[in-house]
Amino acid sequence: MSTILRKLPPTEATGLRTGARHSLAELYRPADLVVLGLGVMIGAGIFSIAGEQAATTAGPGVIISFMIAGIACLLACLCYAELSSTMPTSGSAYTFTYVIFGEVWAWIIGWALILELQFAAAVVARAWGAIAVGALTNFGLRVPNADLVQDLLVVVILVLLTGIVALGARIGLRALWVMVSAKLLAIGAVIVVGLPHIDVANFGEFYVPPKTLDAAPATVLEIFYGESQAFGWFGVFAAASAIAFAYIGFDIVATSAEETVNARRAVPRGMIRSLVIATVVYLAVALVMIGMVSYTRISEVGPLASAFRAVGEGWMAHVIDAGAVLGLTTVILVLIVGQTRVLFSMARDGLIPHGLASVSRRYHTPTRVTLVIGLVAIVLAEFVPVIQMRELVVIGTLFAFAFVAAGVIVMRRRMPDLERGFRVPLSPLLPALSLVATLWLLVNLRVLTWAWFALWMAFGLVVYLLYGRRHSLLASPQTPARTTPHGRHRR
Ligand code: ALA
Repeated sequence: MSTILRKLPPTEATGLRTGARHSLAELYRPADLVVLGLGVMIGAGIFSIAGEQAATTAGPGVIISFMIAGIACLLACLCYAELSSTMPTSGSAYTFTYVIFGEVWAWIIGWALILELQFAAAVVARAWGAIAVGALTNFGLRVPNADLVQDLLVVVILVLLTGIVALGARIGLRALWVMVSAKLLAIGAVIVVGLPHIDVANFGEFYVPPKTLDAAPATVLEIFYGESQAFGWFGVFAAASAIAFAYIGFDIVATSAEETVNARRAVPRGMIRSLVIATVVYLAVALVMIGMVSYTRISEVGPLASAFRAVGEGWMAHVIDAGAVLGLTTVILVLIVGQTRVLFSMARDGLIPHGLASVSRRYHTPTRVTLVIGLVAIVLAEFVPVIQMRELVVIGTLFAFAFVAAGVIVMRRRMPDLERGFRVPLSPLLPALSLVATLWLLVNLRVLTWAWFALWMAFGLVVYLLYGRRHSLLASPQTPARTTPHGRHRR
């Protein structure tokens, strides 16, 4: 078999339960996984992107966009649930792909996950900085040199959260419970205070007629159609792809599998439960926002607060600020945790430098790789216009979704007897539908996003050919890595 298509044996991927690859302490219980999922999902997507998409792209049809993205993500979630119940490992989609499709594909997915997680941490940190400065201003503080303050705040939050992740998951978990509860309270207030202000007239026709734009076609679908539009069905679909950002995170729950008690059952449940709760919350918030004011009056900047101001509940801006600052904090925290786990797995397999898989004796976390991730996130957030490039996060995520859906179908055929803690119902129909839904979201992304993605992937392939292919543990004739009692890997 070609070396680049060599596969990780499933016994090795799952060997962590028997101790062969077991170096991270078991920490998470089922409820923690729901908190982890809500911690990473509810963030910029609902606090900013939903309103921005309503104002510019979908109108009240943003509710339909949320449903489309939600259904696509639920299908993907079922597929993730099956594979993580079969192979409960930190590498999540990367490791699944390694076992099912082989090394080069695993590398490609790992590289796409890096794009998802590392970029998302930078994007959300940048958004966090803007919201924090806005919150200070709303509070009546004069913020001179707001751009500089924002830059500084972004560095402060990333240093702080990287430190928490490096020092131990237990500290992070406690902080997470508190912050997630607080953000859910803020979201609850949005729904309760907003409900009485709903005027059904604002829903108008959910479908806003298309408006042809002067701009050149932007999404792949528009190129086929030959015209660029806002609103109409194009708008609703394009918004669904942008809004997929809000759902990103249930997949990250799968990266906690090695640290979860009874992972084969707990991870699928945690993932599905957190996604269902987030979907209900999103639809409720979007309905309230769209119902309170006409979409034409929603501001692109601070959309939720602008809707409350329009109905005379300006004080809600402070509640939303507090919810968003805390909400985005937990998003960044869990993104960093997820990214450490994926890179840790890739390093353990030798595809990136093996030293990054070392686990600190003192803190029992992969500190080295955590520090690298924090540093890269700071550089990205400070020097790259990440907010404009946030669709890259979506494309990286959707790419992994597609492989996971295909993986369920292939694995059922090739390895029907492996133990599965969860099975996607109606397979192969639902995994096939997941694949179609994911492809649909992908073609509604901008061509520019695809071009950047292709560039990123080409760069990744060069890195693999120059480094990973030769350093892979599967390239050595010895048996795969074993861990010492301290979790340090030897080759
Ligand atoms: N789902 C996360 C957010 O919306 C990434 O911020």
